Amino acid sequence: MTGDRAVKPAVLPSLLAADQGRLADEIRRAADAGADELHVDVMDGVFVPNLSFGPAVVELAARVAPDLPRNVHLMLAHPDRRLEAFARAGATTVLVHVESSCFVEGALRRIRALGCRAGLVLNPLTPAAAALPYLPLVDEILQMTVFPGFGGQPFMRETLPNLRALRAAAPALPLMVDGGVTRATAAGAAAAGATKFVAGSALYGAADMAAEIAALRELAS
Ligand code: DX5
Ligand code: ZN
Repeated sequence: MTGDRAVKPAVLPSLLAADQGRLADEIRRAADAGADELHVDVMDGVFVPNLSFGPAVVELAARVAPDLPRNVHLMLAHPDRRLEAFARAGATTVLVHVESSCFVEGALRRIRALGCRAGLVLNPLTPAAAALPYLPLVDEILQMTVFPGFGGQPFMRETLPNLRALRAAAPALPLMVDGGVTRATAAGAAAAGATKFVAGSALYGAADMAAEIAALRELAS
């Protein structure tokens, strides 16, 4: 618990943990459960050792739950080559990794020029300082709390100092955590400065997603 927080914590189900045979139902399930946004993990098998969704899934989400914003996390070696496609598909926010092989400043400017919110992502072992030059260009920061690529991994507490440093450097910026977020880890992340909470297995694995979202929001308040 962090006492009086000006910002209401946001909870984002990660579609990676959904039943892949029923994606439309699983997207509606997140909307009906009161999710703030839908987190869509995009992986190219190069930047991370796994493959996942493309723009068609973002388009599906925009069609079946138009009021649920699409938070698109690009785990791509060359995210700059795909920005138009995801913007056109209906992404609300597009997030690129600071470690990706592209001109990060140009990618962030392009995301905003395409009418989307721009987000910057840091891997667990990347120093918080790597984000600082980009702060004026971003609408949110995502601190990975696991190594990206797979759901269901344990939360890395080693990332908490980064959260504190990012919060200190950008007091008003939405700060998101992704990986291993559960009832056991959400409060610690919130105390370190996180305001947005991505959760895959904890939410899609819950019998009652609405209750689980409410519980995470409460723990993070
Ligand atoms: C990992 C992804 C996460 C993942 C989180 O590369 O970025 O969004 O789905 O899953 P959980 O909450 O199960 O750790
Ligand atoms: Zn993610």
